[in-house]
Amino acid sequence: MFYFGADYYPEQWPEARWTEDGRLMAEAGFNIVRLAEFAWATMEPEAGRFDFAWLDRAIALLAERGMKVMLGTPTASPPPWLMAGRPELFRVRHDGERVTFGNRREYCPNHPDYHAATRRIVAAMAARYADHPAVIAWQIDNEFGDRCYCPTCIAAFQAWLRQRYDSLDALNHAWGTIFWSHTYSDWDQIPAPAATGGSPNPGLALDYARFMSNSYVAYQRLQLEILHARCPRQPVTHNLMGFNYDQINYFDLVRELDLVSLNYYPRNQWDLSTVVDPAHSALALDTMRGLKRQNFWVTEQQAGQGGWEMLSAAPRPGELRLWAYQSIAHGADAVIFFRWRTARAGTEQYWFGLLDHDARPSRRYAEAKRMGAEIAALGATIAGSSAQPSVALMLSYDSRFAFQIQPHHPQFSYTGHFQELYRAFHRRNLATDVVAPAADLTSYRIVVAPALHVVTPAIAENLVRFVAAGGVLILTQRAGVKDETNLVTDRRPPGLLAELCGVEVEECDALPAEVSNTVEFIAPELAGTPDAEVGVLYEVLHPTTAAVAATYRRDYYAGRPAVTINRYGEGHAIYVGALGRGDLYGPLVEWAVRLTGLPRPPVAAAGVEIVERRQGARRLIFVLNHTEQAQSVGLPGRFTDLLTGAAIAGEAITLAPREVAVLVESAPQA
Ligand code: GAL
Repeated sequence: MFYFGADYYPEQWPEARWTEDGRLMAEAGFNIVRLAEFAWATMEPEAGRFDFAWLDRAIALLAERGMKVMLGTPTASPPPWLMAGRPELFRVRHDGERVTFGNRREYCPNHPDYHAATRRIVAAMAARYADHPAVIAWQIDNEFGDRCYCPTCIAAFQAWLRQRYDSLDALNHAWGTIFWSHTYSDWDQIPAPAATGGSPNPGLALDYARFMSNSYVAYQRLQLEILHARCPRQPVTHNLMGFNYDQINYFDLVRELDLVSLNYYPRNQWDLSTVVDPAHSALALDTMRGLKRQNFWVTEQQAGQGGWEMLSAAPRPGELRLWAYQSIAHGADAVIFFRWRTARAGTEQYWFGLLDHDARPSRRYAEAKRMGAEIAALGATIAGSSAQPSVALMLSYDSRFAFQIQPHHPQFSYTGHFQELYRAFHRRNLATDVVAPAADLTSYRIVVAPALHVVTPAIAENLVRFVAAGGVLILTQRAGVKDETNLVTDRRPPGLLAELCGVEVEECDALPAEVSNTVEFIAPELAGTPDAEVGVLYEVLHPTTAAVAATYRRDYYAGRPAVTINRYGEGHAIYVGALGRGDLYGPLVEWAVRLTGLPRPPVAAAGVEIVERRQGARRLIFVLNHTEQAQSVGLPGRFTDLLTGAAIAGEAITLAPREVAVLVESAPQA
């Protein structure tokens, strides 16, 4: 089943309007509506007194028109009666300030009284709707995030450390607290790494990042246990924030969930550019699919211009539909627009829905409705199909957290570097999964581990196994420098990966962003490749068994290796010590593809994505023209265009600006 619909807040509108809303939704082809995730004060107007009558009526009205309902638990936005006069329930920020009432997501995730209030509302909702035939799924809270540094969290951190380390001696040793006389003689002495404490011990800071991530996992579990026990037939999800959000280990967060969901806003209130980078959105979508290595839902698909205090550029005609198809192409099995009607009140007055403030269907509604009709015809073909990538990008939250503590350079970001590497595959339409360091890698031919800073023996063994069996691994700079406790290893980097890569890192230079260097590709397989510009961080490599693939052109390391390749078992490990952009990574990706013999997907103009979902041997191809120009795309094979009905047998198809084609292969390729 493919779900298509919107996020609806009936409690924000007069009930007399609901019928017309329901009619318009049904007319747009909606079969799902998400409700209630910000309605705590309406569902529980005072502690322990519940009112679900209005929600019953809203659900009934939608169900009568053939729609199903996803319910959100409302804990992201607590009502004043719960928070007033209770400063200890509020989060303390990194700068030491306690937040006050007035926004949302202001709660401390570890406070037992907040937990008790959470249990009460979630249990009441679960009891009411577990057996409701129209309620088909749950969403817990809304976009978990934000670390807390309050006394409750510090005490919980100390208790968490007691579980993690057998003794204070072990902790002191693991963090190297001998440095600057930080040796703890009592668990109660251990602080949170707040800004007020200056530059913290890296071991302490990494453990705190893990602890806060686990705090949200535990807070989610508290709700999940109630929902799983009471509502076993309704899958439970949480709506995540894509690739860029970096405070929670999303692999941990989704582990116990039935389903991953994404809130997907290609253009937001902080962004005035009219150009949207499709690779940026594609990475968010591929990350969501990679988290559980299964398809996902989009619980919030952009429905209009964004705006809190500022307005974003308005989505251009055709973009909402284009972005929604991009979601589907990358693995969404549900697209739910945020939001139905633009709010007249509150912080999000200028965050536009499919209907304007005046309730009139906008051009955006017309676009969603057009898509609704298409989905009615396509849904059955799409359902059950999924991507089958041969490439994986390894996302290490430990490394990401470690770089938050010690970014190395103002111009280096783990997130930006990861995106650069992703882009090199995306530009070639090579499908990628985003996977955890412990993931089973056997189905992949190429694995890229960007800046894999924190390496455990288990991660090293996973990569060694992968390469030994014939895979091609690409590692980039700062790999293998740290162990699990954020101590620098006593081996030369890449530490536990040095033998696999046949290389040692002698030095890592850091230079101003205005300075750059150039690398020359000297491997015979890369002959003729133009030099690539590199900058920011420069590792000087010393090959032990590896061959040199590229060397620096300037500075005291002119002529020294910047990229190496090592044959290991049946496979290859490429080590990239320089930090570059497309002209560095593009040739390396091409090389990796040649080494594995992977087929090369068709490629069109920049800004045109060609994405595949498979159902057994049958291929569904999504061609997405993100550009402002008409584009023609040639695809080998015979297809039927599911949107136009046209048969395509080898000839190029032409897509208007922001247009989409969904093709199904008529006969599998010989
Ligand atoms: C999301 C959030 C929604 C809404 C939307 C627009 O991040 O989950 O509740 O706030 O952004 O701002």
